[in-house]
Amino acid sequence: MVRSHARSPTKSATAGWIVENLSTAILLFDSKLRLQLVNSAGENLLSASVKKMTGQRVDQIFGNDALPKALQHALDTGQVVTEWDLEIVSASHLTQCVDCTLTPCGNGQGDANVLVEMSNSDGLRRILRDEAALGQQNVLRTLVKEMAHEIKNPLGGIRGAAQLLECELASPAHKEYTRLIVDEVDRLRKLMDRMLVPNAAPRMTGVNIHEVLEHVCSLLEAGTDPALTIIRDYDPSLPDLLADRDYLIQAFLNIAQNAAQAVSYQGTVSFRTRAQRQCTIGLKRYRLVIRIDIIDDGPGVPAEIAEDIFYPMISGRSNGTGLGLSIARSLIHGHGGQIIYSSKPGETVFSVWLPVENGT
Ligand SMILES: Nc1ncnc2c1ncn2[C@@H]1O[C@H](COP(=O)(O)OP(=O)(O)OP(=O)(O)O)[C@@H](O)[C@H]1O
Ligand SMILES: [Mg+2]
Repeated sequence: MVRSHARSPTKSATAGWIVENLSTAILLFDSKLRLQLVNSAGENLLSASVKKMTGQRVDQIFGNDALPKALQHALDTGQVVTEWDLEIVSASHLTQCVDCTLTPCGNGQGDANVLVEMSNSDGLRRILRDEAALGQQNVLRTLVKEMAHEIKNPLGGIRGAAQLLECELASPAHKEYTRLIVDEVDRLRKLMDRMLVPNAAPRMTGVNIHEVLEHVCSLLEAGTDPALTIIRDYDPSLPDLLADRDYLIQAFLNIAQNAAQAVSYQGTVSFRTRAQRQCTIGLKRYRLVIRIDIIDDGPGVPAEIAEDIFYPMISGRSNGTGLGLSIARSLIHGHGGQIIYSSKPGETVFSVWLPVENGT
């Protein structure tokens, strides 16, 4: 599969063996940006086989335009391009950060090829960035919780006083005002309750992730338009997790409700589960992790809030409170997991990783 210009067959075979066994992913694209060659490290990085990828265009292999753009730039300028911490999305929707070098080179027949060397930069840089963002979000969540607590305290008093006042009033027109106060206090109390959850310590038991997702699907389907299509793509071999079932239901419901809202309850929401081995979450390495993708075919996350949707009170919907994702994220983190998303018009994917056992 791997060709070299070495003189003897032995040297050629050795060169092929070396490329195959490199830990760096090697990909070779032709001038039409079609993949000609990929080594084993490339297959691993992109979670796709050489058979599937060979001959595909770069935009069929990658789910975002970061690498296609860099490739086109290298081809147009004929210059070596180096990118650090480039965020790529594989066709299986896995988002990763890579360092890569793109080297334009002739193919011996007057046409240009581009050689791409790529290695995962998942390490320290991304971990530090994620940890910093998480720290900020935690501070903000604590602030929001404390604020909600302070607002909630006097609400009981205001409600009681309005009810007493209502008893004293004779005119039905005046009673309207006190009822309005009570209704608004109730609305505010519900909002504060959402801001305060989760409060209790999680109760960890053996939980089947598909049972959790099925519960979420039934809640989503209840009372919604039958035009909403739900697709299940489950890996039935997944083991149970040690988790708080109710917290997981709440987290996945928040994500799934957003997906259903994004398609106005008339498009498609898919639930996909997969096992992932040797996965790093934060600073820990896990032997086995369950990945859950919730995918919708809506218009995508609005660009102006794309960076901030996990912060509390950030919403792109006129009637949204902006709490759903910040709650989901803190519940998933409480289970040692992580949540990220990628979004483009027609395909938004929220991916949750949950470790099956303790990491190292
Ligand atoms: N699947 C999705 N597709 C498009 N946009 C999304 C999706 N999921 C989230 N968003 C955007 O992220 C915002 C924040 O979501 P979040 O769940 O935190 O709050 P919300 O849905 O606005 O309010 P609520 O507190 O009622 O959940 C949403 O308002 C929406 O603009
Ligand atoms: Mg929401």
